[in-house]
Amino acid sequence: MQNKETAMTLADRITITAALPYTNGPVHIGHLAGVYVPADIYARYLRLNKKDVAFVCGSDEHGVPITLKAKKEGITPQEVVDKYHAIIKRSFEDFGISFDNYSRTSAKIHHKTASDFFKKLYEDGKFIEETSEQLYDAEAKQFLADRFVIGICPKCGNEESYGDQCEKCGTSHNATDLINPKSAITGNVPSLKETKHWYLPLNEYQEWLKEWILVGHKNDWKANVLGQVKSWTDDGLKPRAVTRDLDWGIPVPLEGAEGKVLYVWFDAPIGYISSTKEWAERVGKDWEPYWKDKNTKMVHFIGKDNIVFHCIIFPAMLKAEGSYILPENVPANEFLNLEGDKISTSKNWAVWLHEYLEEFKDKQDILRYVLTANAPETKDNDFTWKDFQARNNNELVAIFGNFINRVLVLTNKYYEGIVPKPNEFTEVDIQTLAKLNEYPQIISSSIERYRFREALSELMNLARLGNKYLADEEPWKQIKTNPERVKTIMYVALQIAAGLSALSEPFLPFTSQKLKLMLCHSALDAESLTWENISTHETLLPANHKIGKAELLFSKIEDDEIQKQIDKLEATKIENIEQVLEPQKETISFDDFTKLDIRIGTIIEAEKIPKTKKLLKLKVDVGIDTRTIVSGIAESFKPEEIIGQRVSVLVNLAPRKLRGVESEGMILMSETNDGKLTFIEPEKDSVKNGEQVS
Ligand code: 2FM
Ligand code: ZN
Repeated sequence: MQNKETAMTLADRITITAALPYTNGPVHIGHLAGVYVPADIYARYLRLNKKDVAFVCGSDEHGVPITLKAKKEGITPQEVVDKYHAIIKRSFEDFGISFDNYSRTSAKIHHKTASDFFKKLYEDGKFIEETSEQLYDAEAKQFLADRFVIGICPKCGNEESYGDQCEKCGTSHNATDLINPKSAITGNVPSLKETKHWYLPLNEYQEWLKEWILVGHKNDWKANVLGQVKSWTDDGLKPRAVTRDLDWGIPVPLEGAEGKVLYVWFDAPIGYISSTKEWAERVGKDWEPYWKDKNTKMVHFIGKDNIVFHCIIFPAMLKAEGSYILPENVPANEFLNLEGDKISTSKNWAVWLHEYLEEFKDKQDILRYVLTANAPETKDNDFTWKDFQARNNNELVAIFGNFINRVLVLTNKYYEGIVPKPNEFTEVDIQTLAKLNEYPQIISSSIERYRFREALSELMNLARLGNKYLADEEPWKQIKTNPERVKTIMYVALQIAAGLSALSEPFLPFTSQKLKLMLCHSALDAESLTWENISTHETLLPANHKIGKAELLFSKIEDDEIQKQIDKLEATKIENIEQVLEPQKETISFDDFTKLDIRIGTIIEAEKIPKTKKLLKLKVDVGIDTRTIVSGIAESFKPEEIIGQRVSVLVNLAPRKLRGVESEGMILMSETNDGKLTFIEPEKDSVKNGEQVS
């Protein structure tokens, strides 16, 4: 029973793009959960439903992150991209991400496509050409665009915003908008130098963007995407430079533009088009309908940090060019954290796909399952190894695997693997088979609304239905008393198993394949176990068909395997701390040490010192007296929160005046590498004020 409404609204040709990963590091679970796993589920689902799909991606090989990585490793940018392109491409393949084409932006076809695109816009007068003062690092002899410059975000105050985007609030801005900019190459304060660039006047597209997205898609785009688009358009869009003074990238194809390249975010999304062209050429198709036919539906899968580029800048580029279609949806995901902390390539705080594939051989589907079940679809989510283990052991093994195993073992045991001929169906059998027939539509409806977690949980509900059916009907008990009834029970259970083999394909492709082979053995073509067959025919596995042997689909993951992964992360944490900890200071004598008089005290008053950001004026009872201490902790603590706080105080530090207030000591604090402050306090309340720390 195909859902009519769905069948009509879903286009027959669909172009699916997945964000091109930067080749400055391998792919990690955050990328997978945010972009590649959902995109792959979607592509597989559409192919199973006989749609004409182009699922494209490729390596994003330009941009400042690549240049910075090359500088750090003392190799060329080309060497960096070659290394990571190979790792990423291979790991995607091994993980079963079913791209029709995985290209790279250093490919000739891409350079030509991006250059031609730029030239067309230039010739059609779509750019503003402007000479202006830009940030320049005189020591590095380089203009400072994008990630070459760090400063305070004008919108949220983040002190480490990049020149083109603040990762904290997501705002996209020009490098000259940063407050207190500093060069990421030398740390110098940049000067200003004149340079010519080409700008796309986004302001001219603002009203059109608002109408198209905020009005036209207000009901079918995700709230996080609409929210970001609204925020940018409310702030007012500005012309955006699409060229840079860099030596790594696609040269600006104009006379007099030597030493200039296309902005990476101008060239990267065009990479989707080049990848489609590369694929079409390879398989003998025409690429144009996938990008220009109004009946084609295009969907961009991205993470939330890419929303502005896919919902504002790239659409404005496509609109300016004039002959392209626009995305039908941009189902951006939020972020996945790892064990409570933000995933970070530079801090090696990640589960790297290529390492997972080596350490968990043939267990791709477990990771695919966990990342989908826990996908950050509406809010940031956390990946933990304990949850990974629990979801495998309690869900994949105990629900899905257990049902399949029981069905196959019993069929082999009772009927030597031959699907029995059913007798008369009971009401429960009829209802169970009817429910099975509904599942394709239930799961489709979730997938087509980009609710992949929901879709996966429905798949598991089908396995639960199977388990409940067996538990209620108890064929293992009835086999002695009512063997004819058991034939019908096993027949129904086998149909559910067959349904699971087809419906699990988008989510668990390796498992689905294994299960289809187990069920079909060699006699029946595994291809007949299709999505469509479940909803249109009751009989997926006909009576008398011989199935294969039962093999375990999933196995339990033991504690020691998980502990190994947790230990690995712990080691990374320690390495990171060691890397950023200050080296030990010069040795001092014991006499020097005994000169320090450190006492336990209690803060009894606290107030902010006006016109300062960091300073608090404290009254501290240090046992021997109560004294005034000025402490630079105002950014971490509110005055009212720290009344009564026990502290350690260096009481014999020479008094000094800070902002007109005499400070008579120093509060001792511990500080993490990211500036988090903690008081050094006695563990027990029985320690009295004035007691010495020695
Ligand atoms: O954020 C990133 O990793 C970018 N490399 C994504 C590019 S997506 C597309 F536009 F190419
Ligand atoms: Zn910001």
